[in-house]
Amino acid sequence: MKLSEEKKQELESIYQSFLYNDKILKMKEVSMHRGSNAYIHSFKVAKLAIKRALRRKKELDLNSILIASILHDYYLYDWRIERNMKKHHAKRHPFIASENAKRDFLVNDFILDIIKQHMWPYNFRLFPRTKESRIVNNSDNTVAFKEAITSKKYKSKRKDKYLNLIKTLF
Ligand SMILES: [Fe+2]
Ligand SMILES: [Fe+2]
Repeated sequence: MKLSEEKKQELESIYQSFLYNDKILKMKEVSMHRGSNAYIHSFKVAKLAIKRALRRKKELDLNSILIASILHDYYLYDWRIERNMKKHHAKRHPFIASENAKRDFLVNDFILDIIKQHMWPYNFRLFPRTKESRIVNNSDNTVAFKEAITSKKYKSKRKDKYLNLIKTLF
């Protein structure tokens, strides 16, 4: 998919507006995948999802892919600490993230569906039905898998490197 300079700038400015948003910055406190956090994780997913979308020939809704990727894990609690969440986190967090996204940002149902469908195949009934949701789903799976196999020690040492890596979309 060809990207005009104008569109590229539009996407970069959306990305930047989330990167420094006070509410989004709270995701830094949500630890994830042994030594990573929801903030780093989500922007990594956003970067990969856009990269994959641009490799496709078909026109895709890049704005929705970008915003849904950033918000897909916007559940804002630590499931290791939160009571009753340990057991249900994997299944419930896409719905909580989607509710929080609706409360805090201007997002439409298309974006909310991508968020709700990001845990497939774990949430087997919630198959990602659009091309956009499949890209976010598989980018999340890739990033999560890589984070899960990287050691905690390595990740905490590299936190600055990761923050640097997500500074820009392109
Ligand atoms: Fe998730
Ligand atoms: Fe995720």
